[in-house]
Amino acid sequence: MSGMVEQMWVLEREIHSLTAEIECLKNPPSVGLSSHLDGLREENAKLKYRLNVLKRSLQEERSQCSKTMMNINQRLQEIFGEAIREAFPDLENAPLAVTPNQQAKFGDYQCNSAMAMAQMMKSKGLKVNPREIAEKIQQKIPDNELIEKTEIAGPGFINVHLKRSFVSKLLTNLLLNGVGLHPALTDLTIVIVDFSSPNIAKEMHVGHLRSTIIGDSMCRLFEFLGYEVLRLNHVGDWGTQFGMLIAHLQDKFPDYLSVSPPIVDLQAFYKESKKRFDVDEDFKKRAYQCVVKLQSKDPAFIKGWNLICDVSRKEFQKVYNCLDIQIIERGESFYQNMMTAVVKEFEAKGLVEMDEGRKIVFAPGQQIPLTVVKSDGGYTYDTSDLAALRHRLFDEQADIIIYVTDSGQSTHFQLVFAAAQMIGWYDPKVTRVEHAGFGVVLGEDKKKFKTRSGDTVRLMDLLDEGLKRSMDKLKEKERDKVLTPEELTKAQQSVAFGCIKYADLSHNRINDYMFSFDKMLDDRGNTAAYLLYAFTRIRSIARLANIDEVTLRKAVETTEIVLEHDKEWKLGKCLLRFPEILQKILEDLLLHTLCDYLYELATTFTEFYDSCYCVEKDRQTGDVVKVNMWRMLLCEATAAIMAKCFDILSIKPVSRM
Ligand code: ARG
Repeated sequence: MSGMVEQMWVLEREIHSLTAEIECLKNPPSVGLSSHLDGLREENAKLKYRLNVLKRSLQEERSQCSKTMMNINQRLQEIFGEAIREAFPDLENAPLAVTPNQQAKFGDYQCNSAMAMAQMMKSKGLKVNPREIAEKIQQKIPDNELIEKTEIAGPGFINVHLKRSFVSKLLTNLLLNGVGLHPALTDLTIVIVDFSSPNIAKEMHVGHLRSTIIGDSMCRLFEFLGYEVLRLNHVGDWGTQFGMLIAHLQDKFPDYLSVSPPIVDLQAFYKESKKRFDVDEDFKKRAYQCVVKLQSKDPAFIKGWNLICDVSRKEFQKVYNCLDIQIIERGESFYQNMMTAVVKEFEAKGLVEMDEGRKIVFAPGQQIPLTVVKSDGGYTYDTSDLAALRHRLFDEQADIIIYVTDSGQSTHFQLVFAAAQMIGWYDPKVTRVEHAGFGVVLGEDKKKFKTRSGDTVRLMDLLDEGLKRSMDKLKEKERDKVLTPEELTKAQQSVAFGCIKYADLSHNRINDYMFSFDKMLDDRGNTAAYLLYAFTRIRSIARLANIDEVTLRKAVETTEIVLEHDKEWKLGKCLLRFPEILQKILEDLLLHTLCDYLYELATTFTEFYDSCYCVEKDRQTGDVVKVNMWRMLLCEATAAIMAKCFDILSIKPVSRM
């Protein structure tokens, strides 16, 4: 749909300049030019016709899209965009800024373009007062369904008051159609998210936990928006360390070809083999031979390699089961055969330099090169990522590719992306390839997250600890006395894993993040524990008032959602900001914005609930005497939006906790 709007702008601009040209030629009437003038008029008429066709189909599409929530901010931008183009047709790329207003007295939204436009004109030598600009824009606001009135304030803000009846209708739509947000996608957008990606034979650490949580939530966002998402686990499952692992396997479990060896602790196994590798020359030699055999796909070695990978895989899967992660394993080994071709491609284009036996690639603007072939002839992390990117672009045909790893790898990805652009694999204006980095996890002592004894924390131990702590909390509240054992276990898991995820997602991923069970399990403040409780409470409002599903469904169709009370109005607007929040996250991939919004929604709801009676009860008997149905509908809408937020954040609410 936005493509259509853009086309309209282009047409409108063309029509404008043609009209101007016609006016010029008419005044004074130039002899001999009349045929040229006729031609221009004809062309202009054709353009106007096309514009009308576009406008009509846009309207049609809008009415069909009423099943998806309207992005109010975007709609206001369209309206103001049109007004600005009408008022200042000669100003190209006029800045467009619309923001929601926190303070009610300034209206609901605000258009801040006038000040920036004044700046822009000033730089072109035109001195115009921003207030005057605002007035001109205000006069050109086209007819629309959304705006009640506008006011100019301060240096040139345009305050927008929304039509309450329209907002009320949008809320009813939301309840009728559910929280849908599928933009009219003409063709399917394919997104690849490379996340989690631990390394075989090594422990999955807290960095991988962050990647897993953030990556999964990004996938959920894309999926909710109707994109086709490929979730890829780029596990480190290839490389020289496998030589020493297999050599060690041969010694420790010589019959590994017929029976599965019980490598319970792969990490310890890895350490042992590493120790031998460092001190024992013979072993080292044999390890290298193993690498060669593995790379030539010798079946016995592939078997050994598979065994080792399987042990790791099972460990990773335990974590994924706890966190409900769906992901396809496509590790570095998958790209083995493609790497040779990739190196050749770079060589054929003359982009490879030799450096002390290594083959390196310099990409424009980059300080350091990529190493594509080591001096021993082996490939590197750089080579496998180049091959993976090529595969994702050409074979998977991805439109968007996101890599979720710690920020420490940002240079690596910068180099890979730059090299891929240099060789012409993709154009960043068409394909979005991005590294979504994140900070390190710190302990409560603000140092790198470690166990008390200084070891790295095992993820399963961490998740178990979360379970234990969340049960302690539930028991502290004596919930074990009210809930059935099944309900209690469900609540325990929901709180434990929900809190771990939310604590991570609610912080700006760019920053380092301090892991604290006490903080994340606190049921006050911006935590999953608080939000889960708030949500169950909202869910129970209708139940406690004895209103069943059917009655509520009926009410949606028959009851107008009145937004007269300040707090009703505030809640209604907050609910409808959901689409613009997601739009923003789609642009910057910062999920904490969703958490902030969810928390704001929960507190806005509390304000509403504290000052607006939903159900009125007899003080003495406690019987329900009056149900304010439109407010029940506001409760329902709040629950619906909160549920969607939880979904995207992969938090599982329970009906009782
Ligand atoms: N295995 C890597 C690590 O543990 C992360 C891989 C990320 N993905 C990629 N395509 N390089 O650091």
